[in-house]
Amino acid sequence: MRRSTGKATEPSAVRRAEHQPTTPPGRKGNTRERRADGGGRQVAAVTAARFTTLAISGSYDHAESAHHLGALSEPAHLATAQSFPSMDAMLAATAEDGDGWVYSRRGNPTVRILEQTVAALEGYGVDAEVSATVTATGMGAITLATMPLLSAAAGPKPNIVASPQCYGSTTMVFDKRYGQERGVDVRWVADPLSVEDWARRIDDGTRFLYAEVPSNPTVQLVDIPALSALADRAGIPLVVDATLATPALLRPLALGAHVVVHSLTKAAGASGRSMGGAVIARHDLGLRGQPEELSADYAGYLRRGPLRDMGAVLSPFNAWTILSDIRELRGRVDAMSRTAHAVARHLAGHAGVVEVFYPGLESHRSHHIARRDMWLVDSELDGGEAENRFGFLVCFRPAGGVRAAHAVMDRLGLIWRANNLGQVRSTATIPGATTHKQVADADPDRVTVPPDMIRLSVGIEHLDDVIEDLDQALQAR
Ligand SMILES: Cc1ncc(COP(=O)(O)O)c(C=O)c1O
Repeated sequence: MRRSTGKATEPSAVRRAEHQPTTPPGRKGNTRERRADGGGRQVAAVTAARFTTLAISGSYDHAESAHHLGALSEPAHLATAQSFPSMDAMLAATAEDGDGWVYSRRGNPTVRILEQTVAALEGYGVDAEVSATVTATGMGAITLATMPLLSAAAGPKPNIVASPQCYGSTTMVFDKRYGQERGVDVRWVADPLSVEDWARRIDDGTRFLYAEVPSNPTVQLVDIPALSALADRAGIPLVVDATLATPALLRPLALGAHVVVHSLTKAAGASGRSMGGAVIARHDLGLRGQPEELSADYAGYLRRGPLRDMGAVLSPFNAWTILSDIRELRGRVDAMSRTAHAVARHLAGHAGVVEVFYPGLESHRSHHIARRDMWLVDSELDGGEAENRFGFLVCFRPAGGVRAAHAVMDRLGLIWRANNLGQVRSTATIPGATTHKQVADADPDRVTVPPDMIRLSVGIEHLDDVIEDLDQALQAR
């Protein structure tokens, strides 16, 4: 629990306790704890609240603000290092467990506020302690979350079991960086919806299971509770990239997963100003063959060891811009998902479209899992029933093949031709020719993305304008 001393400028030796990982409160109601600050004044801290309240005030509350001259929004601490009033204070801070600010590669106050916010949102409703570590990019988070699990100290001949329905660079990290360069046996699951298919590839050398939910770009899901149970039995973690879901729609830790990764470059940082990534993990993972300190608090272990040593930390400026966006995550993802669902329905009935991929459509292969697992967080509090939301990514194949798909892309007027997703602006690309081209180039037999498929990431423009733009691009064929 953080304590407020009420001082705005105190050395990190005193401030150390302010930057411990937050224990996410989950859905325990909107309770506020009264506590005394350093001057005996009572201050209220939001220790358990609903999702949107946590996004706004969960880790930057009145007490935290008092440490930043009362600033109403989180300040960006851009200095690379902290200075100390004495040698003793410097030695004390340097000897700490690594959560304080000394040098911004090992910790920074603005970055810590983002880590605490991400932990609170991803850990919402999770009946366990959770902490988070943020990184320079989403790929930085994926590498950081997985590489330490492959340590030679945990035994010879490691293998990993993964869904092939993954972002192109993730496939490259596993195949090239781990498989070809380090001799890791990478076992791609033929049918990620088949739990038996996963089970039959796991053995004593398996270090982790990996899936993207929903996957980029074909928006497939996996059965997280069933795969978590497999991982539990094997004493290994299930690592889930939940970038496309965001914690507003699906929280894998609450479904049993052990580690979650995110690209914060996407819907978390929706205004498109910063790249970032996050690793979020439950505590006490009890992993077979791994050091106790790694299992105890994996995200904290990563921050204090591998991340600090390897150095791909998030810039405080980027943390600051992402904090601005993440505050409004639920409302934005709700709006984007509603529009995306309407767009998917429209495209499904369009004569110029041969196939639509959207988990909210009954025709989609993972629809049954999406209906079970993808809910707008706290929607039951808005007036009764909980409501499904299926995200902002819609993929479709225009009639006429690859050339027609390129022509449709060229005619888009409102929608931006760009390789990012989850942004406030709608964007479109052809993943087979761009974001996932490297997978097909490396192994032409493993094509997981149709070459004529357009990936549309729906933003917060008005539905009618998005549909009008798609219609004119499709009709002019
Ligand atoms: C699902 C998913 N995970 C990870 C990444 C990598 O994120 P970044 O570009 O921030 O490294 C991406 C990028 O598109 C992605 O779509």
